[in-house]
Amino acid sequence: MIGRLNHVAIAVRDLEGAVATYRDTLGAEVSAPQAEPDHGVTVVFVTLPNTKIEFLEPLGEGSPIDKFLEKNPNGGIHHVCYEVDDIIAARDQLKAAGARVLGDGEPKIGAHGKPVLFLHPKDFLGTLTELEQA
Ligand code: CO
Repeated sequence: MIGRLNHVAIAVRDLEGAVATYRDTLGAEVSAPQAEPDHGVTVVFVTLPNTKIEFLEPLGEGSPIDKFLEKNPNGGIHHVCYEVDDIIAARDQLKAAGARVLGDGEPKIGAHGKPVLFLHPKDFLGTLTELEQA
């Protein structure tokens, strides 16, 4: 069912510091920050030859990554995202297998303008898992 790794998302408190680390120390290609007020985050995309890394910094009150950063004050891997061909078929197959889909279970439009869903970390090795219809 799952295909390519689309991205690994890293939650950070200091987006500028994260950019400096990846751009200047690791020599990666890093995008300009993109505010996503609907998602409560500012995002920076790091383009690697085979996948992407996304930095997520809290934006505004009640960001969905506030709690994660309370538990992980230095930042950390927040979720992984895998591509699927058909997100509804994938969701239905996973639900039938007993996996929990977060929210109301309906795909939302993610940061790349494509439908995404999140799966409960307790069902996937303690890792918040995003599916994106590629
Ligand atoms: Co993501």
